[in-house]
Amino acid sequence: MANLSVEMCGLKFKNPLIVGAGPNTKNVPTAINCMKAGFGGIVVRSMHMQHADEVKVPTTEMYRIHGNTKDFRKDLYSFQSTGAPAHIVHEDIPLGWGGASRVPSLEQWTEEVAKMVRSARDYDCTIIASLGWCGSNLTDESLWTLEAKAMEQAGVAAVELHTGPSPATEPGRFMMMDPDKYLGMPIKAARKGTKLPIFAKIPVDCCDAVGMAYFAQQAGADGVVPVTRWSTISMDIERETEPEWRGPGMGGPWSVPIMNGLLFRMRHADRPIMYLFSKEQGTFPQGGPVEIPIVPSGGVRSGADVIQYVMMGGDAAQICVQVIMEGVQVAGRIEKEMRDWMDRKGYQKLDDFRGKVRLLQPSEAKDMPQRLAVVDADKCTGCERCVKACPNEALSLSDGKAKLDVRFCEGCSACFYICPTNAISLTEAK
Ligand SMILES: Cc1cc2nc3c(=O)[nH]c(=O)nc-3n(C[C@H](O)[C@H](O)[C@H](O)COP(=O)(O)O)c2cc1C
Repeated sequence: MANLSVEMCGLKFKNPLIVGAGPNTKNVPTAINCMKAGFGGIVVRSMHMQHADEVKVPTTEMYRIHGNTKDFRKDLYSFQSTGAPAHIVHEDIPLGWGGASRVPSLEQWTEEVAKMVRSARDYDCTIIASLGWCGSNLTDESLWTLEAKAMEQAGVAAVELHTGPSPATEPGRFMMMDPDKYLGMPIKAARKGTKLPIFAKIPVDCCDAVGMAYFAQQAGADGVVPVTRWSTISMDIERETEPEWRGPGMGGPWSVPIMNGLLFRMRHADRPIMYLFSKEQGTFPQGGPVEIPIVPSGGVRSGADVIQYVMMGGDAAQICVQVIMEGVQVAGRIEKEMRDWMDRKGYQKLDDFRGKVRLLQPSEAKDMPQRLAVVDADKCTGCERCVKACPNEALSLSDGKAKLDVRFCEGCSACFYICPTNAISLTEAK
């Protein structure tokens, strides 16, 4: 049977599936659920000792699925959270974020995490603590140090830094990323508090997530976790304001190809990278590839997603929203999908295909399978939508039915998507 184990930064994970910081890991009971389900690791929901928005009115709709247009497609959802403690509606749930009735003190949180660590021994699960959620500690060096020290005392294997301002805070809505202030400082300050491996979660709302990952490496991070969620501002044009409290962070399955691009460039960057607002402002310091472990966080729903992240050079992968949507049993499903694929391909371990992606050369394009549209005349009503949509004028109307001129079809699938009666399918050209 294929071996899914991962070793990075001196840590061992029985598989590459790590629950991302969030509601699935907000307290001991939810964390134990993840452990029991077989995840190789969990990142505990980020602690925060203060929150810029704590005093504001919380929302009762902690989590929302974005996509309220009539064209909303379920497989393109984005799951959001405001990050506000919904303390009015959830008085009685245990400590932790995502509905906690109050903000735990550092001592309480340390004890909660220590309990998770003790439980994890029974399930061979590696526990990572996350510091600085919402950038509450944005500029307070001493808090990063203090939290890192407390989490080491709690017995975690590593710490992850939620660097960069969250979209739920004022800075997150208005600020450009200053890598020295929001990435370099937390890494160095946390290092003062702990000898444990430090993973820097890379903010995506910066000039260059690839450059930020390289920057984190140079600032002393042991690994990077791209990326924190995208800052958003939703709009209600009738009310001429936001439709809900704070544009929350967004992520979703649509982000997988974007992450692939980021991973590839992180591993292969060989060009100068420009850091906006860095000390070298105005110059173009020489960048380079990220050589420390990379654990992507974003969009994972299937074994195929984790496989492609590993192929792009990722060491493991974090999963958050899919655990919420499907439940913790997603771990078993993804593991099985990975094992089936590895067995079929003859791979015994992740290293057999890690970083092995081969990007196509332009000269190979002619060997790619060509897709062609096929019209089912029985279903075609002659509405002409496909004729108007085709960018290559390959479709015309003949005897009241759509007709394809294969010489011009490039298989773009516009007609397939626009056809109201599903009269068009796509097939591989012979
Ligand atoms: C409700 C919710 C709460 C989250 N809370 C945190 C958090 O406390 N700290 C953190 O670093 N990331 C947090 N995240 C981000 C996730 O860890 C993850 O990076 C993001 O959701 C993208 O991964 P996914 O597509 O697998 O969900 C949260 C995400 C959601 C949906």
